[in-house]
Amino acid sequence: MRIERIRPQHALKDFDCGVKELNEWLVKHAIENEKRDLSRTFVLLSDSDEVVGFYSLTVGGVSVERLPKKLARGLPKFDIGMVLLGRLAISSRVQAQGLGRDLMVDAILHASVAGDNAAARFICVDPINQSARGFYSTFGFEDIGGDELGRMYLRIIDAVAALEAAIDQN
Ligand SMILES: CC(C)(COP(=O)(O)OP(=O)(O)OC[C@H]1O[C@@H](n2cnc3c(N)ncnc32)[C@H](O)[C@@H]1OP(=O)(O)O)[C@@H](O)C(=O)NCCC(=O)NCCS
Repeated sequence: MRIERIRPQHALKDFDCGVKELNEWLVKHAIENEKRDLSRTFVLLSDSDEVVGFYSLTVGGVSVERLPKKLARGLPKFDIGMVLLGRLAISSRVQAQGLGRDLMVDAILHASVAGDNAAARFICVDPINQSARGFYSTFGFEDIGGDELGRMYLRIIDAVAALEAAIDQN
């Protein structure tokens, strides 16, 4: 398995993670968004070059008023940089084998580099359903009460520290 930035040569149309909206987004928008600098997508490829997973990133800002007290403490009253992990999915055929975790680790590392260069403080996710919220919770993402988008946030520094702690344990 390997992870690559998406290219037109990647075969996308047979990807199926069980969530139609995510399958369709990959086929209809991922490459176009790449060309227009609207998002970056990375695909997980099997040894036979089949696309078995993907995630997409973009950047944004969040106003301090939207953050829970714990995350907002001491921050100035202008938008704080964040990297948005808009979508992440694994093919139904290979779910529950640790590949979602592999993609999440890669996404956190990319967010960390982007955050380091452009001062993003948070990584934020848009869970597509309740099950996805459960998946993101296992990585430490937290709900923000009252956020109508249902976004979940994690400080990039904490995400990286958790990865380092996991590496030290192994
Ligand atoms: C959610 C999804 C990406 C998980 O990928 P996966 O490869 O099956 O997950 P992994 O095997 O890597 O699991 C990693 C960890 O998350 C946990 N996990 C996986 N799915 C979970 C869920 N729905 N709820 C709670 N925890 C979950 C696993 O138990 C595992 O924890 P552990 O390492 O402590 O045992 C995958 O099921 C999927 O693509 N679902 C459909 C699309 C979707 O919901 N995408 C996410 C939101 S956009």
